[in-house]
Amino acid sequence: MDFRGLAVFFLLTESALAVKSNACMAARRSFLGSDAMLLAIICTISSVACSAKSFDDAFRTAFLCLLIGVPGAGKVRPAKSPPFYQMDTCAGVCQIHTGGAAWLFHKAESCYSQCSFCESAKGAELTIMGTERKPEFFGGKDLHIGIVGCGYVGLPLALRFCEMGQRVTGFDTDKQKVDKLNAGQTYILHIPEAAIAKFVGQKRFGATTDFTRLKEMDAVLICVPTPLDERREPDLSYVEETARAIAPNLQRNQLIVLESTTYPGTTEELVLPILEAGGLKCPIARAGTNDNVQTDFYLAFSPEREDPGNKQFGLAQIPKVVGGINLPSRRAAELLYGQIVARVIPVSSTREAEMSKLLENIFRSVNIALVNELKLLSQRMGMDIWEVIEASATKPFGFMAFQPGPGIGGHCIPLDPYYLSWKAREYDFEARFIALAGEINTSMPYHVINAVADALNQRRKALKGSKVLLLGVSYKKDVDDLRESPSLKLMQLLNERGAILHYNDPYFPQLQKMRHYDYSHLKSVELTPQNLAAYDCVLLATDHSSYDMQAIVDASQLVVDTRNATRRITRNREKVVLC
Ligand SMILES: NC(=O)c1ccc[n+]([C@@H]2O[C@H](COP(=O)([O-])OP(=O)(O)OC[C@H]3O[C@@H](n4cnc5c(N)ncnc54)[C@H](O)[C@@H]3O)[C@@H](O)[C@H]2O)c1
Repeated sequence: MDFRGLAVFFLLTESALAVKSNACMAARRSFLGSDAMLLAIICTISSVACSAKSFDDAFRTAFLCLLIGVPGAGKVRPAKSPPFYQMDTCAGVCQIHTGGAAWLFHKAESCYSQCSFCESAKGAELTIMGTERKPEFFGGKDLHIGIVGCGYVGLPLALRFCEMGQRVTGFDTDKQKVDKLNAGQTYILHIPEAAIAKFVGQKRFGATTDFTRLKEMDAVLICVPTPLDERREPDLSYVEETARAIAPNLQRNQLIVLESTTYPGTTEELVLPILEAGGLKCPIARAGTNDNVQTDFYLAFSPEREDPGNKQFGLAQIPKVVGGINLPSRRAAELLYGQIVARVIPVSSTREAEMSKLLENIFRSVNIALVNELKLLSQRMGMDIWEVIEASATKPFGFMAFQPGPGIGGHCIPLDPYYLSWKAREYDFEARFIALAGEINTSMPYHVINAVADALNQRRKALKGSKVLLLGVSYKKDVDDLRESPSLKLMQLLNERGAILHYNDPYFPQLQKMRHYDYSHLKSVELTPQNLAAYDCVLLATDHSSYDMQAIVDASQLVVDTRNATRRITRNREKVVLC
């Protein structure tokens, strides 16, 4: 037995496994107890390593010899970007980071995490215990990216990284979604099943509810919900829960990026302290103040700008804003996102990045409120607001057209502005535009119901007891998303005022019970001429492209149109009321 080799082996094991002391003990038990033969091989290799030029070379030599020496470990070969190596495992190619601290343990059942391809835990398995990931690493290939929250934002992001050749694991608390994804199925209409099935088949994409596997990731992108609570205050419980799930699995030089929309300061004040609690540090240093800061891991914020159903601007075409807790963090995130979008816009800190997303959504909310208010005025003055907007939109500069409607919906515009007004109060500041826009937009469904009541009144009918068919429950046209949809509020108000309510939506054959509403007893009514004729009023709330407006107007007694979807209808125009 070569004691010099043995000493080096223990030294290497201790330093490599310092971050994972349990694994260290188990590994040592395995080597010392059940696999004396393996121990002898390692000691010999380590003794050879002592004469190698550098410590790092020595380690790498020892590591590769160990891999080759372990039965069943598979064939190891250099990857495209040394010092990384690739190994064939039971189910595909596995990237091995040998930046000084990765070991393959054979038969030490309790100490390693599974090879990410090797779900069944058969064959060779790999534990990664810290790697040398400089920011430049994230511009490279063969990364393993974890996406927490596989919803409207996380899923397209995951598929985009797969498209660019990276390997992605989706983490979600919803087991049904995880099972569907692993079966190559979609649960969001505009996200193609074929893409999911293809990447699952290529073992490039998989989903899991096992958050301990976060430790296997090079980068972890957080895309969980950020709703408002009952008092319309930020509910950051999903973000906090995710940070707490990452913390025990956080690895040296891992990149963590928050994508969920939130108030300025969330990444620094909420996420950072939770991640740092385990000992690894990521010092706050605004870009330009201390650019050479040493950081143990990278933390950044990069807001998502997904517009579900938008065929003109997909993820790849939409530039991405990135702010880091420090410059290395921003650099790492810039390089990562540079692989999937046409342009990355770096900003000085996570706060500017957080605020930029809120500005975009507040801008929309305020402008929608403005045209909604001007619509009310135009109606009172006997003008057509849509014609006015169309005319103004011909100005080639300095004007952007927004459309009035029955209220605002979706996951962003109705909620995000309140994240900022809530935070502003901490600074004794009232964000008045946000409040005013919120007030006007919230009042729109009430205005619509009054218009329905007036239109029925003109026909000598009361809203109470009238049969009303609402068209379109999703919050905007051609999407299967009804989060915060004004249609849900309209349905509540119609019920409260005693109307007999039914609905049609090609994207929702039936409605499920929701947090604030329960219309689970309703099924989408087929749009036949006979059915349409049976309603006292047809209320158009969402202008899905599939609606044949002329046929609807022809068959209906009365159409109240909140979207100007009937703008080109001439026949039976007298049945239409714009509101
Ligand atoms: N939908 C959009 O168009 C859009 C656009 C830009 C930004 N955003 C923002 O992106 C974030 C995510 O929105 P979304 O629309 O994708 O939401 P979503 O509800 O579609 O998806 C969120 C996913 O996270 C999962 N989840 C919840 N808690 C979790 C946890 N603790 N760990 C892991 N997974 C968890 C849910 O099961 C769900 O699959 C929000 O902050 C939202 O404001 C959304």
